[in-house]
Amino acid sequence: MKKGRYITTPIYYVNDVPHIGHAYTTVAADVIARYDRMCGHEVFFLTGTDEHGQKVQEAAARQGRPPQAYVDGMVGRFQGLWKALNISNDDFIRTTEERHIRVVQGALDLLYKKGEIYLDSYEGWYCLPDERFWMEKDLQEGKCPDCGRAVEQITESNYFFRMSKYQEWLIEYIKAHPDYIQPSVRRNEVLGFLQKPLGDLCISRPKSRLSWGIPLPFDENYVTYVWFDALVNYISIPGYLADMDRFRKWWPADFHLIGKDILTTHSVYWSTMLRALDIEPPKTIFAHGWWTVEGEKMSKSRGNVVNPIDVIREFGVDPFRYFLLREMTFGLDGDFSKDAMVRRINGDLANDIGNLLSRTLSMIEKYSGGIVPASQGAETPQDTALRKGVDGLSERVDHFMEGIEFSKALSAVWEVITSANRYIDESAPWALAKDDAKRACLSTVLYNSAELLRIVSLYIYPYMPETAGEMWGQLGIEEDIASAGLQEGRRWGGLKPGLRIKKGKALFPRIEKIEKTERIWKMEKIEVSTQKSEETIAIEDFAKIKLRIAKVVTAEGVPGSKKLLKLLVDLGDEKRQVVAGIAAHYRPEELIGKSIVIVANLKPAKLMGIESQGMILAASQGEVLSLINPEKDIPPGSIVK
Ligand code: MSP
Repeated sequence: MKKGRYITTPIYYVNDVPHIGHAYTTVAADVIARYDRMCGHEVFFLTGTDEHGQKVQEAAARQGRPPQAYVDGMVGRFQGLWKALNISNDDFIRTTEERHIRVVQGALDLLYKKGEIYLDSYEGWYCLPDERFWMEKDLQEGKCPDCGRAVEQITESNYFFRMSKYQEWLIEYIKAHPDYIQPSVRRNEVLGFLQKPLGDLCISRPKSRLSWGIPLPFDENYVTYVWFDALVNYISIPGYLADMDRFRKWWPADFHLIGKDILTTHSVYWSTMLRALDIEPPKTIFAHGWWTVEGEKMSKSRGNVVNPIDVIREFGVDPFRYFLLREMTFGLDGDFSKDAMVRRINGDLANDIGNLLSRTLSMIEKYSGGIVPASQGAETPQDTALRKGVDGLSERVDHFMEGIEFSKALSAVWEVITSANRYIDESAPWALAKDDAKRACLSTVLYNSAELLRIVSLYIYPYMPETAGEMWGQLGIEEDIASAGLQEGRRWGGLKPGLRIKKGKALFPRIEKIEKTERIWKMEKIEVSTQKSEETIAIEDFAKIKLRIAKVVTAEGVPGSKKLLKLLVDLGDEKRQVVAGIAAHYRPEELIGKSIVIVANLKPAKLMGIESQGMILAASQGEVLSLINPEKDIPPGSIVK
């Protein structure tokens, strides 16, 4: 019996540059996962990278590197981005991992033994310089459609999956399960596609043409077609064949979230593959729309590919997550622009929720000594309306989340936020405070506003986890919002009077001006990982760098330099003099006694005439610079590796 909730994203081509399209699906899946966890479900949220195939093989060859080394160098860009976006995935699949390869081969073997896969030969055309096979219909004026050169006729054999035999079953299944393919426009699209006869699917590639793939277990001359490999990730990672008890806990997946361009591979190939393996289909395949950028298709050639890291840097993680899910109706297309982003930040975030928190806390400070008061006296009609609005949210948000209508769920929450701002305006606590007879009313208004914010934080947590945590912190709630249950937590009255609030910085400072010239983000550099594809190094190269822990013995400024400090550091068996450009960030006295990391085998160099025998490691981002310290006490001289 299935017990947990299982949510997936597509696994992204590892050689792609991560952009807002990738970020979108992954943030959407993250919101579902976080919401489900809050509802008390056990969740398995899977994302990862698709690492085999022609394109990867070619890209690696262009760099003169083995494909595995190439993909190892690329994967960090996705993993780094998910970290930066606060993605709470439970696992990360790479299709080059043994645990996945074994299952792909196991599934192929099963299908082959069942007669679901057969060998067939057919004629086609081969472009020798490109080493590519083309069908007659692909050719352009009898030439290679890619390079325009002459092609030669060849006969090729390949393995085929009997997909056609499941056509009728699939049509009936989709018709009988309205939730299977969503939204309905995509469902109709698939049903339309299935009106034409469905062919069998070629699931192999001769090794002579493509070697970077999973070998067929029954014929070593072939590797698996990349989609037959990639789709299997959805079952290999939860344990299919390897640990069937675990597999049954998670499968069928609750949601496969995908983009509309990969609808056929999921709804037709994947459904029939599962059917042939006697595995139940997933519950829902949801295909979302595409982002354009300032009205234009996003593409490398247009130079308008939006790098999520740039957006995070400029606007912050939570505003970005919020924008992605608020601005676009999940399922339809949407447009990304700085103007639209700034409108959301200044309106929904700074004016509505940011302002509500800040004015509520200011009033609690001013009229209640920074302590959340108890609600007192009888409820006024305004109090009742406010409370009912909040109570009514539970049903509405649950309903929208069930149908993956993020934008509507957020709008419902924002209605309540707007009503709370109005409630404060109308109740005018500043006037109540002037009249001793109205103290009870004042306490109630303050309590209600704070209580509403506590509950609203729970609703926005899946979308903006950091902000929600910050709100709880400022309200003086010590419990970790990440582990707060939604069912219990959203009941009105949960806020304990007597809490001492901790008013902090504004949640979302207003953005006054954006430079015209910066309107469009350019994909110049992806800095998610320090390992840029072209700059990856082999482990042997890294091993040449000797990093060691050093303890600072003395530190002093360098006369005539605002940047440099001269340090004497202890490496256990010797002392070294090191000059470092950290004077703008550290005072000499605060460095003494600190354990830091130094590159111990760097050729000595002179800085402003002073010899430096090594270099210290520090991380920097914008204005901030931070030395790297060992996390535990460890003697000077220890090797860092
Ligand atoms: N590797 C396959 C998926 C295999 S799943 C078993 C793949 N990878 S991809 O990296 O090309 O694309 C991944 C996702 O990014 C797709 O869902 C695609 O729809 C999405 N997007 C690519 N560009 C997009 C936009 N401009 N907007 C929104 N999503 C877009 O396909």
